Amino acid sequence: MSPVHVRAEPGDFAENVLLPGDPLRAKYVAENFFEGARQVTGERGMLGFTGTYKGKPVSVQTTGMGCPSASIVTEELIQLGARNLLRVGTCGGYDPDLRLGDLIVATSATAQDGTVSSITQGVSYAPAAHFDIVHAAYHAAENAGRRTSVGPIVSSDLFYDPTEKPAELWANLGVLAVEMEAAAIFTLAAMRGVRAGCLLTVSDTIGAEVVRISDEELRNAVDNMMALALDTLNA
Ligand code: HPA
Repeated sequence: MSPVHVRAEPGDFAENVLLPGDPLRAKYVAENFFEGARQVTGERGMLGFTGTYKGKPVSVQTTGMGCPSASIVTEELIQLGARNLLRVGTCGGYDPDLRLGDLIVATSATAQDGTVSSITQGVSYAPAAHFDIVHAAYHAAENAGRRTSVGPIVSSDLFYDPTEKPAELWANLGVLAVEMEAAAIFTLAAMRGVRAGCLLTVSDTIGAEVVRISDEELRNAVDNMMALALDTLNA
């Protein structure tokens, strides 16, 4: 039976799935990187596509923004047979050494969100990426000669945070960057016994001031990240 939101049937999705937040990025990846792409779902505009990359089956599925949306999509993809989930997105850099366009391979994602604490009923928990995916992603990035940092990130419920504190707090704790979905994806993957990881491009740096990447630089950096992500899933 088709899940409620990711309307598709078992077999429509490959075991390897890329997870961008943005539906149009999912479409772009399918059109520009996949061979033989077909749309497999589109309920609520949450586009999903399946094709092959370098001869291996692969899918790309929109998660939407934030952990509540990402958790619904992750749960349903796993019901549909997904086994290796790789979030691909953008992040705000907290680490002062990061430059715009840098790549981050997340090893863990602090759950600064309501979804994971609802799942764990408030018990402290450290959502972590699967080592196989971290390992493959790091080597794919190294082969491509891309400036890469490997380490912890934080998944926040807030993009527009009314306090000024988080950047300094998280940077002092060694957290590289902030995004909004990885903690839920890592948690559900761990609960269901599948692998998850997360590759991010730094779209803004958050310190004394916020500096944002240009649209063209972002497009190039994200294109490069998608190729790396697909090589990671094929490893
Ligand atoms: N906050 C949360 N998510 C993000 C950001 C940010 O500053 N930049 C890109 N994704």
